[in-house]
Amino acid sequence: MENVNQAEFWQQRYEQDSISWDMGQVSPPLKAYIDQLPESAKDQAILVPGAGNAYEVGYLHEQGFTNVTLVDFAPAPIAAFAERYPNFPADKLICADFFELSADKYQFDWVLEQTFFCAINPSRRDEYVEQMAALLKPNGKLVGLLFDKDFGRQEPPFGGTKAEYQQRFEQRFDIEVIEQSDNSHPARQGSELFTKMRVKS
Ligand SMILES: C[S@@+](CC[C@H](N)C(=O)[O-])C[C@H]1O[C@@H](n2cnc3c(N)ncnc32)[C@H](O)[C@@H]1O
Repeated sequence: MENVNQAEFWQQRYEQDSISWDMGQVSPPLKAYIDQLPESAKDQAILVPGAGNAYEVGYLHEQGFTNVTLVDFAPAPIAAFAERYPNFPADKLICADFFELSADKYQFDWVLEQTFFCAINPSRRDEYVEQMAALLKPNGKLVGLLFDKDFGRQEPPFGGTKAEYQQRFEQRFDIEVIEQSDNSHPARQGSELFTKMRVKS
C-alpha cells in the first residue's frame, strides 16, 4: 500500500491505461456545483489536486474560470491535458506532490476534491486535512465528493464513511454540507457524498 505515495505507481497506471477511476467526463455533481456559481467567482483561485485527466479543470477553463491550478505528481495526465488545452496557462499545470506544496507560495479560495482523497494512503488522511487547511485562504472552502462506501481492499480507492469524515475534518473545517449526492454518475450512484466545508479561522 506504501506505493500509492509514489508518483511512479500512478504514472504506470496511466502508461498502462489501467485507470478504472477515470469517468471520461466532468463529474455530474461537480458540474452542477460549478454551473450555479456566480460570474464574480470566475477569478477565484481554485485548486484541483490529484486531478488526473482533469475533466473538472477543463470544464472550469471552458466556462471562463481564469485562475485554476491543476496539481498531480504523475506527468502523463498533465501532458495529455496540456495537449487537449493548449491555451491553458502552463504555470498552472503543476507536477508535484500535493503534500509538498508550500502554503507560503500557494493559497486558494477553494479546492475541488474528486477521487483524490480516496487515492492517498489512509494513514495520511489527517495529513491531508492539515495540508488542505494550510493551502486555503481564510474562509476558503473545500468542495467535492467523498466515497460513502467500504471497498474492502488494500489498494485504491480507499473508501470511508460520513462519520469518519466528520470526525477528521471537523478538527480544521466547519462542515456546511455532507450528504448523499443525488446526481452522481450512474456508476457511482448511491456511493458518494457531496461536501462543502469551510476552513476554520
Ligand atoms: C484515483 S486518481 C483520480 C484522478 C482524477 N481526480 C479523476 O477523478 O479522474 C488519483 C490521482 O491522484 C494523483 N495523486 C495521488 N497522490 C498524489 C499526491 N500525493 N500528490 C499529487 N497527486 C497525487 C495520482 O497521480 C492520480 O492522478
